[in-house]
Amino acid sequence: MNFRQSIIEGLVPLTQFPATKIADLLEIPPQSQLGDYAFPCFLLAKTLRKAPPVIASELASQLGQSLDFIDRIEAVNGYLNFFIKRQLLVSQSIQEALRQGDHLGSSTLGAGQTVLLDFSSPNIAKPFHVGHAFTTILGNSLSKIYRHIGYQTVRINHLGDYGTQFGKLIVAFRLWGDATALDIHPIQELLRIYVKFHDEAKENPDLEAEAREQFRLLESGLPDQVALWQKFRDLSLKEFDIVYKRLGVEFDSYAGESFYSDKIPAIVEWLNEKHLIEDSEGAQVVRLDEQKLPPCIILKSDGSTIYASRDIAAVIYRQQTYNFAKNIYVVGTPQALHFKQVFGVLEKAGFEKAKDCLHVGFGLVKFADRKLSTRSGDVILLEDLLSESVDKTLEIIRSNAAIRHPDMPEADMLAIAEKIGIGSVIFTFLKNGRERDIVFSWEEMLDFEGDSAPYVMYTYARARSILRKADQEGIDYLHVDPAKLRLLGSDDEFALAKLLESFSQVIEKAASVNEPFMVVRLVCNLARTFNKYYHHESIMKTQAVDLRDARLALVAACSSGIKAALNLLGIDAVERM
Ligand code: ARG
Repeated sequence: MNFRQSIIEGLVPLTQFPATKIADLLEIPPQSQLGDYAFPCFLLAKTLRKAPPVIASELASQLGQSLDFIDRIEAVNGYLNFFIKRQLLVSQSIQEALRQGDHLGSSTLGAGQTVLLDFSSPNIAKPFHVGHAFTTILGNSLSKIYRHIGYQTVRINHLGDYGTQFGKLIVAFRLWGDATALDIHPIQELLRIYVKFHDEAKENPDLEAEAREQFRLLESGLPDQVALWQKFRDLSLKEFDIVYKRLGVEFDSYAGESFYSDKIPAIVEWLNEKHLIEDSEGAQVVRLDEQKLPPCIILKSDGSTIYASRDIAAVIYRQQTYNFAKNIYVVGTPQALHFKQVFGVLEKAGFEKAKDCLHVGFGLVKFADRKLSTRSGDVILLEDLLSESVDKTLEIIRSNAAIRHPDMPEADMLAIAEKIGIGSVIFTFLKNGRERDIVFSWEEMLDFEGDSAPYVMYTYARARSILRKADQEGIDYLHVDPAKLRLLGSDDEFALAKLLESFSQVIEKAASVNEPFMVVRLVCNLARTFNKYYHHESIMKTQAVDLRDARLALVAACSSGIKAALNLLGIDAVERM
């Protein structure tokens, strides 16, 4: 039985509200003395023409008889506070958690619907810096969250692989390029010649004209230009792939900006048919005055395409190819205007799906205490950040007696440090609401006691170690008789069961506002409450065998919950630490 769902179904006939509205309103109160679920009656005051406290007490008495899993309903200050029978909630949520395992909180909510996630999308021939790390980690987590609740997802890497800078790179490479260096460190070499191009162009403006000409030749498909561009793209992607592998991130499509170049004429024709295109100093633009936005340039005065026109073509292509329910762009907030213009043009053209396109922005990345060795001036490369995090984790593991394993082979220790080090970086990106700036601080990131990846991962490993002992003693905690589970009812046990019960609701909410931090908060609460429990109760030493088995089942359920949540963030749990 799903308590939440049953409460919603009980409220529908009494309130005349649709189930979805009740689902939105029904909350999990911050303090347990306010019940396990609470329903505010304020919105009903208008339709029922009564004061909220009166409505609450009437509803309480009407509902009381019908929901047999309820211990009591209290009407307090216009709220209905539901208290579920403790042992019932505990035994049921543990059984459910054991049944779902690593899929805890999964559902079929989004079945038959496709969500597109445009994320990561670095620029070819440019370093993969920490801003791209943010979109990569956020987008990856969102794709997992959507999949968890039944959506089909398509992960799209809209590579920045087009534009006049490629004309510059072609010119620069022919003049100063080093083919060997390009093979070994492609991005470093491309960056070097790109910088050199700009230095030289200050003295020699002809270079700029030559670059524009080379781009034009590239866009018209000349083999030499295309071959060089292809080489830059392939080599850059190979380098990006190293970080993607390390982070465990995969894509379904690498259709980047270049992919849409030949699809722009049809877009221009379509917009022209709708009489939306105007000439503005030689450029072709769509005015967006009525949306209080600056005009969107579709073609520059020399006829070439720009970032925005390629994005417009991409939306149309994606609709035809994937028939999306949502088309999400995980891109930094500085590009908010760009997306407003792109969606604005589509809306003006009567493209109905414009309303299902969404820009999911995020803040800046800052460093509190850092002196990170950077290989390319001011930008901080993700690769360097990951390596430093892993190195520091290794140091901590080596020096911290509590987590040190003198007998652990070096290779295992390295593998664990890699997972924790990378997990810590991911966790830091996802820990707060995405629009807030992130301040990296090693102390916080690698604090084994704080709200950090190492803390949560350590808690998981601890739970797993208890279960390994139980396995050695042949205890079958996964199939405990439900009657035994009713022996659990302490405050800690109840709190843990409630957290497990809340998984589906929290995950659905995280998806609806595109905020993985909600999953982070859930897993931190679960880890904290679990550790408290673990300190209070000596689980394996519990005298009564039935109670011991029930407690082990709870430990197993919590370990599944932690693992499920970490998976949704893109963090790989480790079995021992
Ligand atoms: N390449 C762009 C950048 O690095 C991000 C692209 C985002 N996706 C899009 N469809 N515009 O800023």
